[in-house]
Amino acid sequence: MKSADNMLLNLKNDLLNTTNFVQLGEVEVRYLGRNGQVNDLMKKLKDLSVIERSEQGKKLNQLKANVETLINEKRKELTHKEDFEKKIDITLPGVKIPKGSLHLVSYAIEEIEKIFKKLGFIRMSYPEVEWEYFSFEALNMPSNHPARDDFETFFIDSPKDKNFGRMVLTPHTSSGQIREMLRVKEPPIRMINIGKTYRPNWDASHVPMFHQFEGLCIDENINITHLKGTIDFFAKEFFGSDREIRLRPFHFQFTEPSFEVDITCDICKGQGMVGDKKCRLCKQGWLELGGTGMVHPNVLKSGGIDSQRYTGWAFGFGVERVMMMKPGIGVSNMRVLYDSDIRINEQF
Ligand code: PHE
Repeated sequence: MKSADNMLLNLKNDLLNTTNFVQLGEVEVRYLGRNGQVNDLMKKLKDLSVIERSEQGKKLNQLKANVETLINEKRKELTHKEDFEKKIDITLPGVKIPKGSLHLVSYAIEEIEKIFKKLGFIRMSYPEVEWEYFSFEALNMPSNHPARDDFETFFIDSPKDKNFGRMVLTPHTSSGQIREMLRVKEPPIRMINIGKTYRPNWDASHVPMFHQFEGLCIDENINITHLKGTIDFFAKEFFGSDREIRLRPFHFQFTEPSFEVDITCDICKGQGMVGDKKCRLCKQGWLELGGTGMVHPNVLKSGGIDSQRYTGWAFGFGVERVMMMKPGIGVSNMRVLYDSDIRINEQF
């Protein structure tokens, strides 16, 4: 059927010149519409004899199917083309990949490490899941001692070791003191142990997982002036020369004498009040950084250090606490550091 062959050729030609869906619609009407070319041929069937009609009818049906296939293929092609053009518009400005930043606490840890490095302290990391022995007994806190209650502790569901007891999530970084003494064996020791610590508290200035940094200095003739000098150096470097620290007599089982170190609060500038309201963070002008003192001889003994020959000092401060006290940080609720809203990091 000549007209059928011509029709397919013409259609192919028309489709080559079809570049959008409007044109394709027009082509479709021209070929497959009620008054389209295919139907025109169909209408002529009635003039044919019965035999011819059935033969031509089959051919026309085949022709119609071919026409539909060609038009559908073109439709697919146009759809792909449109998708492609929509996705890649080379005239649009490029998409900027957002720059990440470290968490505020990570910045603080880096800075603390740097400050102590200047004084010759090396940074160590010790286990976060620790034996009770290293967290308490070796630090002069036997299991029945009431001071142990101060370190409310998360216990791990683990078998008990007959020498080391149960396992805990480190309630303080002081276990690192013992581990460092056992590692170094013979002083001098100048260590800064920065790690995660855990206690079951949750309020504006406590979160159950926080960080501490623990300084330890052991050598011959080490005394309390070295302790004061070092903490003062840290405070001036980290907070600026206008921040003040004070040592308050205190008690820890693992140091003697012991102190608590406070620093003036950056939110209320040491006043304890913001306007006519008590400062939400510190309540009285000073914020506790943590404890310090001269290492107790029993602790030196646990670490295998000759307590006749060597003396030392140690401190343990909260990383979040010192970070929040830094000028310009202005974070008054510790919990926002860990509620996964990255807007807090985007500011720094
Ligand atoms: N481990 C004590 C605490 O978490 C702090 C401390 C460290 C005190 C070292 C004295 C010496 O509160």
